[in-house]
Amino acid sequence: MPSRVGRVLDVGCGSGRLACILTTRAERVDALDRSSMMIERARRRCSEAPNLRVLEGDLLDLAVPLSTSGYDAITALASLHHMPLQSALERLAGLLRPGCRPTPPSVPRSRSVAELANPTTKACRCARPRPRWPNCGQP
Ligand SMILES: C[S@@+](CC[C@H](N)C(=O)[O-])C[C@H]1O[C@@H](n2cnc3c(N)ncnc32)[C@H](O)[C@@H]1O
Repeated sequence: MPSRVGRVLDVGCGSGRLACILTTRAERVDALDRSSMMIERARRRCSEAPNLRVLEGDLLDLAVPLSTSGYDAITALASLHHMPLQSALERLAGLLRPGCRPTPPSVPRSRSVAELANPTTKACRCARPRPRWPNCGQP
């Protein structure tokens, strides 16, 4: 992901770890999860990020109020395999802005969420991105 990006959707955001970090890189972040418990945690963790919308709903539910103008990037960390893959990928393709393309993830399990959001692996090892919001790095 580039160091600055416009509108990002984090699918299956869970407790909001990645979404919260993304708010430091993106103009707008929508964090989506179908679990009300996770949504509550994400709202608590990222409460101070003004550029974040935390949305409860299923990715495949067209009634969920996602951006009608699409997204410049979509993340789905450890969540795609919980969904019917074909339908989920079709939905995600429809949500990407023209010119954006899906990039299959390939991340060793040992890598942290903070590392994922960092532009270079070397930088990840040396300096984790400092959260802009106080609760951002909390488990
Ligand atoms: C293993 S957790 C990963 C959470 C987070 N991305 C992380 O890495 O910490 C998978 C999440 O995907 C959510 N999820 C599964 N299917 C979903 C769907 N169809 N729409 C939205 N969220 C979904 C679950 O509720 C769960 O919070």
